[in-house]
Amino acid sequence: MIRLSVDPDKMDLRPELFDFHGVSMTHYFTDNWENVQKFQARPDDILIATYPKAGTTWVSYMLDLLYFGQTSPERQTSIPIYDRVPFLEIMLPSMATGKDQADNLPTSPRLIKTHFPVQFVPQSFWEQNCKIIYVARNAKDNMVSYFHFDRMNDVQPRPGDWISYIHRFKEGKMAFGSWYDHVGNWWKKKKTYSNLHYMFYEDLTEDTGREIDKLCSFLGLSPSVEEKQRVMGGVQFDNMKKNSMANYSTLPVMDFKISPFMRKGKVGDWKDHFTVAQNEEFDEHYRKMMKDPTLQFRTEI
Ligand code: A3P
Repeated sequence: MIRLSVDPDKMDLRPELFDFHGVSMTHYFTDNWENVQKFQARPDDILIATYPKAGTTWVSYMLDLLYFGQTSPERQTSIPIYDRVPFLEIMLPSMATGKDQADNLPTSPRLIKTHFPVQFVPQSFWEQNCKIIYVARNAKDNMVSYFHFDRMNDVQPRPGDWISYIHRFKEGKMAFGSWYDHVGNWWKKKKTYSNLHYMFYEDLTEDTGREIDKLCSFLGLSPSVEEKQRVMGGVQFDNMKKNSMANYSTLPVMDFKISPFMRKGKVGDWKDHFTVAQNEEFDEHYRKMMKDPTLQFRTEI
């Protein structure tokens, strides 16, 4: 179980970015690198992979409810989502590492989260042919969400102002590197690794039930109508926002007075952040960066 014994008010936990094997990272996600690379996946492990702020928690909670919602109802009121679905590469002061948490998960399957770009994923996941769910979100909303997250989370690099943040995002100078590389390389992986289900935040927003059906068909699950309704209710934004086991309110490194973790949960919030000029510049850069016409995002629905 994750418990932080340092007081985030008393020390500066904010990390610097540095280049790690060609990807911009912070030490909280590389300090345990050797151990993480040696992680022994099991064939029934399910890896949830995302660029940060693409809907990781949403899909994690969906999976948790699909697998354990009925069998372990006490889980719903006593174990925060970040303990149910450990963050594989994280290593924070005075806390269990994500790797140890994953090793010690009592569930079957084990649900494990990562923000690694595809080339950093420990070998055993591929060797064991584990099911992997990748969630992607359009660049503009993803960046807005990341900006607010970096404002409120003491273990993220300081965001700076919005204008410099857009610049950094374009350059890939964010924890876990370039959004373009992340979504693009995971998309490419899908062509050679069939046990990968690539989802879009916008599709989930448009029709959560349809996306749950696709997810279940990928996982080989067939929930009853009532079960599916229960999952859909549980993962609704407003319900997750007020659910202390899903909304991260129990994690002391996050300052909800600055911005809540469950912030807006919308497609198109970028329109309230970009000026017309910033949007035009961003679109021009985006067109140059997105080379694969088969990978398309929607910035509104
Ligand atoms: P916003 O900051 O745009 O609100 P992650 O879990 O990868 O960190 O992603 C967090 C983002 O997903 C936040 O976006 C959060 O509000 C959104 N999110 C989480 N649960 C959601 C849900 N049930 N429905 C819609 N969006 C959700």
